[in-house]
Parts: sequence; C-alpha cells; structure tokens
Amino acid sequence: MTAAQAAAQTTAPILPNGQDLDTARAEGQRAYQLDRRHVFHSWSAQAQLTPMTILAAQGSHVWDGEGNRLLDFSSQLVYTNLGHQHPKVLAAIAEQSAKLCTVAPQHVNAARSEAARLIAELAPGDLNRVFFTNAGAEAVEHAVRMARLHTGRRKILSRYRSYHGGTETAINLTGDPRRWPNDHGDSGTVHFFGPFLYRSPFHSENEQQESDRALEHLERTIAFEGPSTIAAVILESVPGTAGIMVPPPGYLAGVREICDRHGIVFIADEVMAGFGRTGTWFAIDNFGVVPDLMTFAKGVTSGYVPLGGVVISDAIAATFADRPYPGGLTYSGHPLAAGAAVATITAMQDENMVSNAARIGEQVLGPQLRGIAQRHRSVGEIRGLGVFWAVELVADQQTKEPLAPYGGSSPAMNAVVAACKAGGLLPFANYNRIHICPPCNVTDAEIAEGLAILDKALDVADEHAAG
Ligand SMILES: Cc1ncc(COP(=O)(O)O)c(C=O)c1O
Repeated sequence: MTAAQAAAQTTAPILPNGQDLDTARAEGQRAYQLDRRHVFHSWSAQAQLTPMTILAAQGSHVWDGEGNRLLDFSSQLVYTNLGHQHPKVLAAIAEQSAKLCTVAPQHVNAARSEAARLIAELAPGDLNRVFFTNAGAEAVEHAVRMARLHTGRRKILSRYRSYHGGTETAINLTGDPRRWPNDHGDSGTVHFFGPFLYRSPFHSENEQQESDRALEHLERTIAFEGPSTIAAVILESVPGTAGIMVPPPGYLAGVREICDRHGIVFIADEVMAGFGRTGTWFAIDNFGVVPDLMTFAKGVTSGYVPLGGVVISDAIAATFADRPYPGGLTYSGHPLAAGAAVATITAMQDENMVSNAARIGEQVLGPQLRGIAQRHRSVGEIRGLGVFWAVELVADQQTKEPLAPYGGSSPAMNAVVAACKAGGLLPFANYNRIHICPPCNVTDAEIAEGLAILDKALDVADEHAAG
C-alpha cells in the first residue's frame, strides 16, 4: 500500500513518511525517554536539556514530537541545502546501497570518482583534487595538516567570531567561546579580528574602511607573529554560526594577496557556506578569489549521509606526489556518501537551485527582511546572501547592546525562539541572532509564510528593547 492509499483509508492524520500520527507520536515519546536516558548530546549540560523530537520531514518542513508542522529555516545545522527527503537523493542512496554499499578507501570506486570530478569541476581555479573526510571538522584537520607539511611551518591564523569544528585543532582554530574549555594554549593557533562593520573592532564608518583596516590588522598580526612561522590563514568565506558577516568588497582578495606575499597557504572553510547557500556554488565565488585549500561538508550531500573533504590546489597536491601524505580515514570517500553527493549536486544543477538561492536572497528574502527590520526596534541589523541571513537583535539600537550577551542566552532570546516555534517556524538561533537559512529550493510562498511568523515573533523581542 502506498503512503497516499494508506492516508485515504484512515481518518487519522498521516505524516509525509506514511506513518499515522498516533503511532509516530508514541514512537517519538519512547525515543525521547530513551534519548534522555542514553544519548549524550553535543555542547550541552546533559541534565538541562529538553531536546525537540522530529517525527518526519519533507521539503522545507519538519514535524515535531506532537505532530506540529514547522518551516525548517534552520536547515537543521544549515545543511539540508536541497530540503528534506529529496526523492532523487533518496533513490541514489538506495541504488548505491544495492550496487555496492562499502569499499575501502584504497580501492577505486565509481561513486567516489564521480563525486570528486563534480566537486573539482565546481571548485574555483586549480583546486582539482579531493581528499574525502567524514565531515567538516576532519576536513579542517586535514587542510591544516596539508598546509603545515607543504610549508614546513606550524602556526595557523584564524579569526575571532568563527567556527571550524569540534575536533582538537578545529576547535582551537574556532573563534567563539566553545574554544575556551578546549584551549590549552599549545595548538599553534593565533586569532585575529576579521571585518564586521556593525560591530567594527576598528571603529570604521564604512565598508571600505573596514576592509582596509581589517587587512592592515591582519598584516600587522602576521608581522608580529613572524611570517616565516605561519603555515596558513583559515577563514570561513562567509562566517556562518558566528553571525553571517559577509566580508566587504576587497577583503578576501586582500587576504589572498597577503598570503601570496608571505608564502602562507590560504584555506577557505566552505563547510557551512558552500554548495549553493550564498547563491553561488561556493561562497568564495562571490569574491572572485581562489584559495589554496577549500574545506566542505554539510550541503555536499544535503546532510543525508555524512561527508566532508578538502579540495586541493595543484601546487599542494604536488607536494604529496612522491612523498606520502601522512593521513587517512577508513571511510574516506565512502560509496554511500559519495553516491549521495553525486545525486545532490546533480539535482541542484538540474533544478537550478543555486540560481534560486541567489534570486531568493536578492529579490525575496533580503527585501522582506529589510522591511521587517524597519518595523522592529529590536532589530539592529540584517545581513546575508542567498539563503544565508542573520537578524541581529539588540536591546538598544543606539548602543547596539545585544539581546543576549556574547556566548550566552537570555530570557528575551528564549522567548523569541519560542514564539517562532509556536508560530510554526524553526529558526537557527545563536546568542543574540536569529539565522534564516532555508533550503536553496525554498519557494517564495514559504519565505512569505516563514517571515510572517518571524515578524510576529519579533514583537516579543521589541518588548525587551528600548523604544
Ligand atoms: C564553517 C564550519 N567549519 C567546520 C564545521 C565543522 O563541521 P562538522 O560539524 O561537520 O564536523 C562547521 C560546522 O558547523 C562549520 O560551520
């Protein structure tokens, strides 16, 4: 019996996965109890958690433990770039599992070779080779290892207000408070300030100043750290979790020039911003800059199967032509993940999802968010590209005091997020920001529906903001 036939035979509401709601709810309640007893969650004080149950998902929507439908503008952790349960990707995963479910990384496999070809062809410049990892943090670890071996230097520079992953080097590169408990001061990482005009560390008044001053600051950091000690600068092309700060024109080109002058490897971290999210295949394409190494994960498979990797320039690949690369992974280029990547990229191409993301950003999401900003005294700034936007909430537009402190939460922010959820919208929230990150194939109608919910939820934020 198909899901549709099952739906016709019963009066009970049916979820898009074909389950009736009562059964799904009961299953969800048992899952919740088992979760609280046995599952250890990321970044959390375990006893204080009340995690949300997801019973089903389809396209831009998820269904919570009660069966309520929510628009998923979090794209989970900003990775369902072609929405939930895309039939072509589901079919490709099933086909690949039937054809050849696993093969060790030393053997050639069609799905892996094809995924590497597609990714190399989409990547800018001479980034022609792909080292596959299980996810984003591992990609960062390996990019750093490659840069260190290529240059014979150890130090890595990264920006404050960044996230690069939860493993040892990646968390030490991270420029948000999650690094603090993991930072023993011996990781060989050094942090600097990147451009962020709204909260400019350089007292800039416009984007040009911010770009110039941020570059001068980087140049000075390098001079004082010792250029000959620095292997790489790693930057999210558009920082994601840290606040979606689109770099001002000229900044990334300036970083490229500084790196070239000092023989420093430029690593672009595209784990969150890549695969269509900013309206281009990779966020760095918006700036016409070619890095030496580029990390990716998340959107490459829309998160359906875990996969990450590093795309490697010809010069760095040549370093390991006759010298073994001292690193590897049991599941590097796992066929199920590689097959999911091929199907994801192909579906995104066939269904013009990247250009849809660009159009949504320019013509729908950007203008509508700007309208919302004008209506609410709690909105300090909105910024973004494509389907990657941040709404920065403040207690006071004059002082820019954030609605939750850096690294923390507040009753006001909790109330805004709760109002979004109660209205039927699942946003990505971080400190004093609401991130609006729908899938790249979101429709105009879904944006209108989601932003109407956000608009109403921001009335709650306004109650906490100076008038
Ligand atoms: C920019 C960036 N780099 C790296 C990572 C780490 O990826 P993963 O959680 O897949 O290890 C993330 C995760 O959010 C990210 O946003």
